[in-house]
Amino acid sequence: MREINMRRYLLLVILWICEATTSSPCIHRDFGNGGTVCVCNATYCDTNPEVAVPEIGKFVQYTSSKDGLRLSVTQGAFTDKSDKADQIIEVNPQTTYQSIYGFGGAFTDAAGINIKTLSPGAQENLLRSYFTKEGSNYNLGRLPIGGCDFSTRKYTYDDVANDLRLEHFNLAEEDLVYKIPFMQKALKMNPELNFLAAAWSAPPWMKTNNDYTGFGFLRKEFYQLYADYHMKFLDVYKSYGLEMWAISTGNEPSNGIIPLNGFNSLGWTPNQMGKWIAENLGPTLRNTEHNKTKILALDDQRFSLPWYVNLVFANKVAKDYTDGIAIHWYWDSLPAWVVDRMHIDHPEKFIIMTEASVGDKPWNFKKVVLGSWKRGEQYIEDIIENLEHWVTGWVDWNLALDEKGGPNWKKNFVDSAIIIKADNDEFYKQPMYYAIAHFSKFIPRNSLRIDTTKSSKYIKTVGFRTPDNNSVLVLYNTRSKKRSVSIRDPERGNIYLSLPPKSIHTIVYK
Ligand SMILES: *[C@@H]1O[C@H](CO)[C@@H](O)[C@H](O)[C@H]1NC(C)=O
Ligand SMILES: *[C@@H]1O[C@H](CO)[C@@H](O)[C@H](O)[C@H]1NC(C)=O
Ligand SMILES: *[C@@H]1O[C@H](CO)[C@@H](O)[C@H](O)[C@H]1NC(C)=O
Repeated sequence: MREINMRRYLLLVILWICEATTSSPCIHRDFGNGGTVCVCNATYCDTNPEVAVPEIGKFVQYTSSKDGLRLSVTQGAFTDKSDKADQIIEVNPQTTYQSIYGFGGAFTDAAGINIKTLSPGAQENLLRSYFTKEGSNYNLGRLPIGGCDFSTRKYTYDDVANDLRLEHFNLAEEDLVYKIPFMQKALKMNPELNFLAAAWSAPPWMKTNNDYTGFGFLRKEFYQLYADYHMKFLDVYKSYGLEMWAISTGNEPSNGIIPLNGFNSLGWTPNQMGKWIAENLGPTLRNTEHNKTKILALDDQRFSLPWYVNLVFANKVAKDYTDGIAIHWYWDSLPAWVVDRMHIDHPEKFIIMTEASVGDKPWNFKKVVLGSWKRGEQYIEDIIENLEHWVTGWVDWNLALDEKGGPNWKKNFVDSAIIIKADNDEFYKQPMYYAIAHFSKFIPRNSLRIDTTKSSKYIKTVGFRTPDNNSVLVLYNTRSKKRSVSIRDPERGNIYLSLPPKSIHTIVYK
């Protein structure tokens, strides 16, 4: 008896030491918005190192919840008993779907402006939170080519009218101060980080309306020059050690056709987009040293699926040059079958979600709602839904914003996974941060989605097999009550779990 107690005691001590040396807990702060943030500063930030995947027969489970768990780790064992549960989740690891490319956020001017207000130690903790394995291990970073609304002024890389040889092409100070240094640091932290870039507007003088915003299209005589403009961007970023994995045809072309938002945009009709890819962007890109950079078409909302892309791809040459289709989240209240339709129509083109943020709607009077679990939940449900419908990656919008949700020259403020409180040299990791981390940390590039019981109203589910042949399941209990689930993997046995109210779980096993 005594010996067993002693052993237990020793085990506890060992576990405690491991815990103390490997992970640092969240320092919660409650702003009364139905959830908490984790507070970080120059000397402290919660970290969550990955735990080794246990031997066959066991699993490791990471949990975050409205009640305050943040990636908290437990281990358990498979059984061959079939306990009664509120819901059964079948896992069929042999049936696979799309390959996952990654998860990330955007290096906007606004993000850089905010990060730069922090002391060097706090900046480091923020970047580590996103780009290291102890953090969310992001492997994708998006960046605007030139300015966007999350800039403090309107600009492109060549604002000198009729500069037909792009002699005045130049990066902006914003690139040098607010984007490049942070991208370089992030790339050092995670060498697998890939960048994708999109222009919001062409230089105004190349456009029919000679403006950064509003109803306007690229003038026909500048189609080639605008492709060359993109090559110059690729060249100069490469000279800073930053190569682009992909460029898109431009952010949200619908904003240049129905300019309700009033921020930087360039309209493309599907026919024009097809022509530009086929005759200018595609051949130009493939004949440069950037020939491996992928071309993403669309970069716009679900309402464009699949009809707009089908019209672009009516141009067969454009279709051949295009590698993937980029979609945004703002109209994800539309049914996900449009994404399935996109995949069925063009199965050889990957689909990737390239922009999401909460607080964009006119009825969101409070743009930043500190600690809101509800907003984290919106991310969780959207990521699962997209992954269940052929989407290969999910990229958040601004990496960090201030307490107003800016800066943004158009005052188009939104929320962000990390909010910076410059006066205190602090930053707040919101539930949205952990929502993404439950996927980005555990689903490495080239993981395959595997078949599982589909998401139900109460339990959202999605599963993957990693390149190391580990299984990764993500479950979310949408209810404000406990719910029990029995997970059944024919190759491994059963897992019985009681999921706390409003909790997300990532389960990993060999
Ligand atoms: C940083 O955060 C830690 C943990 O909350 C706290 O102990 C420390 O006082 C903070 N440092 C400053 C300068 O506020
Ligand atoms: C593609 O790029 C590589 C280096 O990036 C280069 O060696 C090769 O010549 C390029 N191909 C073309 C057709 O330009
Ligand atoms: C994963 O399993 C497959 C067969 O199911 C095997 O071919 C492959 O080598 C395994 N990969 C690793 C990294 O163990």
